[in-house]
Amino acid sequence: MGIFKGKVNRMLIFRVCAPVKVLRMTQSSPSRISKAVIPAAGLGTRFLPATKATPKEMLPVVDKPAIQYVVEEAVAAGLSDVLMITGRNKRPLEDHFDRNYELESALTRKGDAERLSKVQESSDLATMHYVRQGDPRGLGHAVLCAAPHVGDQPFAVLLGDDLIDPRDPLLARMVEIQEREGGSVVALMEVDPSQVHLYGCAAADTTVDSDVVRVTGLIEKPEPADAPSNLAVIGRYVLDPAIFDILRHTEPGRGGEIQLTDALQLLAADEKIGGPVHGVVFKGRRYDTGDRSDYLRAIVRLACEREDLGPDFRTWLRQYVTEEM
Ligand code: UTP
Repeated sequence: MGIFKGKVNRMLIFRVCAPVKVLRMTQSSPSRISKAVIPAAGLGTRFLPATKATPKEMLPVVDKPAIQYVVEEAVAAGLSDVLMITGRNKRPLEDHFDRNYELESALTRKGDAERLSKVQESSDLATMHYVRQGDPRGLGHAVLCAAPHVGDQPFAVLLGDDLIDPRDPLLARMVEIQEREGGSVVALMEVDPSQVHLYGCAAADTTVDSDVVRVTGLIEKPEPADAPSNLAVIGRYVLDPAIFDILRHTEPGRGGEIQLTDALQLLAADEKIGGPVHGVVFKGRRYDTGDRSDYLRAIVRLACEREDLGPDFRTWLRQYVTEEM
């Protein structure tokens, strides 16, 4: 699995502020998870100028905004209470999951039932809630904004720009592991060692389940030489609510942002705080739609595989590759 051991101690130099006195020192018992939190307040600078006035989560992947795939994934895993963390310029996210009566009545008048159902699909999907992150102070800070809504239950976090192919379910497996083991569960993916500096990276031990590891340490965007493994943290988490107390005391880390990875490192280092941290090692298809190349790959792949668009698109693509490449 490519887990390098023996470098874990170096990772214990993390940037969580020192006295975390108010931590809840009990492990919450496993209970049914019903709430999903989707942080979508980031600035999306990698996609400028497209994201100057449009949230990157609203960029279409074929004919649906990226964020709709993410909400559909939460619902497919049984989580229909969705809290989206938004910010300035993010109003289209709320509009997309709301009714649009004008459009609906125009389509009804035209008798266009097919498009009407597409318009209604996103507003009927889940119970949506929104909270604004005043200042985008990092992913950890975005997750902390969910505390009043989530309360004292384990909850899922799905990054709004991380797209997991619907045919490769990941979140349902993570929920299953959390309900069995308690504590928190992160999603991990093996990446080329040259890529670890782009991700949070886990030190981990194997378990009896071939797709599950016990996470013993985490480090945000390490240099390849400092990486404890090639297991990268990807944008799905099931978290014990103990994370909130840790985040309240977490100081800005890498990039001057409050890092979720730094808070998770504290959980992983001491299971008395919020139970164990496990990782589900994902081997399916995943796209970072906040990255331009991956975004293009997602569109080409999903378009090729669509029943309605795929046959024509594949013919064109084959021809294009033969003639132009
Ligand atoms: P990214 O690291 O992709 O940052 O955030 P970003 O600002 O969205 O994009 P770039 O790097 O400038 O292009 C990972 C996830 O965390 C959310 C983002 O919306 C994204 O889903 N996030 C990040 C917040 O909600 N708030 C923050 O303060 C930072």
